[in-house]
Amino acid sequence: MASSRTFTLLCGLLAATLVRATLNPPAVLMLGPEIIKEKLTQKLKDHDAIQILQELPLLSTLREEPAGGIPILGSLVNSVLSHIVWLKITSANIMELQVQPSADDQEELIVNIPLDLVAGFNTPLVKSIVEIHMETEVQATISVETSKKGFTISSCSDNGRSLHISLLKKLSFMVNPLANGVMKLLVPALPKLVKSQLCPVIEVAFEDMQEDLLQMVEAPISVSNDHLQFDLLSSAIKGNIIQLNLGAKLLNSQGTETKRFSESAASLTIPTLDSAPFSLTMRQDVVNDAIGAFLPSEEIAIMLDAVLPELALRLKNSIKAISEKAAAQLGRTQIVKILTQEAPALLLNKGGAKLAQLIVLQVFASNEALRPLFTLGIEASSKAEIFSEGARLLVNLSGISPDRLRVLNADIAQFDPIMLRNIAEDILIAALQPSQNGKLSHGIAVVIAEALGLNDSTVYVEEDGIVLSADSS
Ligand SMILES: *[C@@H]1O[C@H](CO)[C@@H](O)[C@H](O)[C@H]1NC(C)=O
Ligand SMILES: *[C@@H]1O[C@H](CO)[C@@H](O)[C@H](O)[C@H]1NC(C)=O
Repeated sequence: MASSRTFTLLCGLLAATLVRATLNPPAVLMLGPEIIKEKLTQKLKDHDAIQILQELPLLSTLREEPAGGIPILGSLVNSVLSHIVWLKITSANIMELQVQPSADDQEELIVNIPLDLVAGFNTPLVKSIVEIHMETEVQATISVETSKKGFTISSCSDNGRSLHISLLKKLSFMVNPLANGVMKLLVPALPKLVKSQLCPVIEVAFEDMQEDLLQMVEAPISVSNDHLQFDLLSSAIKGNIIQLNLGAKLLNSQGTETKRFSESAASLTIPTLDSAPFSLTMRQDVVNDAIGAFLPSEEIAIMLDAVLPELALRLKNSIKAISEKAAAQLGRTQIVKILTQEAPALLLNKGGAKLAQLIVLQVFASNEALRPLFTLGIEASSKAEIFSEGARLLVNLSGISPDRLRVLNADIAQFDPIMLRNIAEDILIAALQPSQNGKLSHGIAVVIAEALGLNDSTVYVEEDGIVLSADSS
């Protein structure tokens, strides 16, 4: 008894674990190293990182920290510094950033920030400024911070290995010992200064970049009169790629939430980024409802003989084959009503998509008839082409195939609805499709992609979602 209960309990636990392991977010944004590099470089500029470097308090630092209390160095400091009138950075550059996966931890990303500095000092011993070239590299580690759902700079320091200090020009033997002394003092001082002065700026710049990204991610996206909005659920680092797992919701025109998409067991294929700068993968249900927002239920009434006389003639002939009497009732003012009642369903397949919808088609003999001659229920499907123009996701329907027809009611003799299949198809293509394509033609302007500067993109249709991927330049 006990063991069977234990077994049940174990199975329950195991099932829970399995379910949790396979939960997928409604959308995933992957950002490659190029984007992180570009955005962080810009933010370092915005936060005046160069100016911070130009203002590094070299002389006061050398004075304040007399070489860790080592007496010999202490006297060196004093003798060196007594000959120096001023010492400061005369030129500062931040070279190209590198973003790399961490060697030992999958959940970390390393950003290397190479610095190229020139320090100059003035001494009464010579007239000209003595210049010292300093190259070093700051290493910042980006880690996932679960509590904030996002990322954080978990460590930042001069990586020590790349420190290189040399004289810019050859000097006379008079100043050489002095310059060597200054360089000796800079070896321990520069990394400390970089850590205390530049690292806080790097942290602020990174936070700012992250805030911008989040704002982009959470910007509402128009889907017809409604809005689709993403929010951050969790973050991950995969190699040198940042992955944002996103929740989604639909809001109506009043801003009221009408649908929330959460993590679910529905599958989601997330392709690798390869060399693309970024990609946005959206789960099937999100795409389905976003497209559905463009196609609310509607009713179209057409005076067929006036608008599409050729189809009116064909309809009359088709009805004649069912009932001569009914065909004779069809007047010039005959009306065809098309009603779409439920939200359409998007069926995704690798390399293609279909939109299935339920349509009611009614034929009225004249504009005065209160009852239709007959009402057909049609399960129809169209080929849905999903493509992109810049950061805009577009859907265009082509063809409507009435896959199943049912006579819902008829004032005429019972008949096999298959007899009206072809004419129904042509009426729907002529009357419903242009209206639906017109509504879809605005497309979905994916704000995130736009904000990331996307010009050329590719859409991949997977079985469980679609992927908008930036083309690598
Ligand atoms: C959309 O599909 C219709 C019908 O197949 C076609 O005539 C039209 O050119 C397509 N539009 C676009 C933008 O592809
Ligand atoms: C993207 O397009 C804009 C204008 O539409 C242009 O200024 C920019 O240079 C383009 N960017 C790339 C990477 O092609």
